[in-house]
Amino acid sequence: MRKSIQKISSFKKEGKKITVLTAYDYSSAKYFDEAGVDMILVGDSLAQVALGYENTYDIGMDEMLLFTKAVSRGVKNALLIADMPFGSFQINKEQTMKNACEFIKAGANAVKIEGCNDYILECIKHLTQNSIPVIGHLGFTPMSINSIGGHKVQGKKVENTLEILRNALKLQSAGCFAIVLELMPLQSAQFITERLRIPTIGIGAGNLCDGQVLVCDDILGKYDRFKPKFARQYSNLKDIMINTAKAYCSDVESGAFPSIEESFTLDTEEMEKLENYR
Ligand code: KIV
Repeated sequence: MRKSIQKISSFKKEGKKITVLTAYDYSSAKYFDEAGVDMILVGDSLAQVALGYENTYDIGMDEMLLFTKAVSRGVKNALLIADMPFGSFQINKEQTMKNACEFIKAGANAVKIEGCNDYILECIKHLTQNSIPVIGHLGFTPMSINSIGGHKVQGKKVENTLEILRNALKLQSAGCFAIVLELMPLQSAQFITERLRIPTIGIGAGNLCDGQVLVCDDILGKYDRFKPKFARQYSNLKDIMINTAKAYCSDVESGAFPSIEESFTLDTEEMEKLENYR
């Protein structure tokens, strides 16, 4: 059975760190789930790392839903979150609700919404009051990259940290069950974390948040167009994939693949019959 939002909330009280990874396909989701990851996020980062788009503006509901369905089939124990893509919650609260419902029907247990202003708070309240769990996202919010002007660390000044805290408290009051804090000094993230009842999930926000999230392609060493300073690479899937493909090509070219064991063979009687046709 998948973890509930209540279970995730209890981790903060128990002091158990919450583990979160993104996933975009069935088998990755299944393996991360088997590994014991607490929450799996179908992040809109899939636009870049899985679909090769330049940024996350290019992905829409149709693509997000397709990948959410694939991931959902692989997840048994983790809580599954779908990222609401750019344009899916900016129009009005009714459309936000409709899109969030699509994600829940696709197998997600919760949705993630970036940012905080009066309109976003109204949308979040509308969702949470109608039984759709929401995780917020503050600090650096990739959807605002055009107004922020790049991948800039947020909350570097106390006034900014206080502003993020005020927004975090508003998201908490609107019913968010957790908040992602992206790209901020660890002391700012700690300050905010200590003042919230709900868990914070950090990404580039130090180790004092209640949990951590990373993009799976970054920990696997699969995506090579951008390597964030805060991401730790545990494997080198890029090299493994290139070397595997090279070994395969070389075996095909030399005739070493497929072997007899990898082929189907006729039985003796059928072989003899075939001989008569030579
Ligand atoms: O899209 C994403 O993958 C994200 C995070 C990593 C937080 O939003």
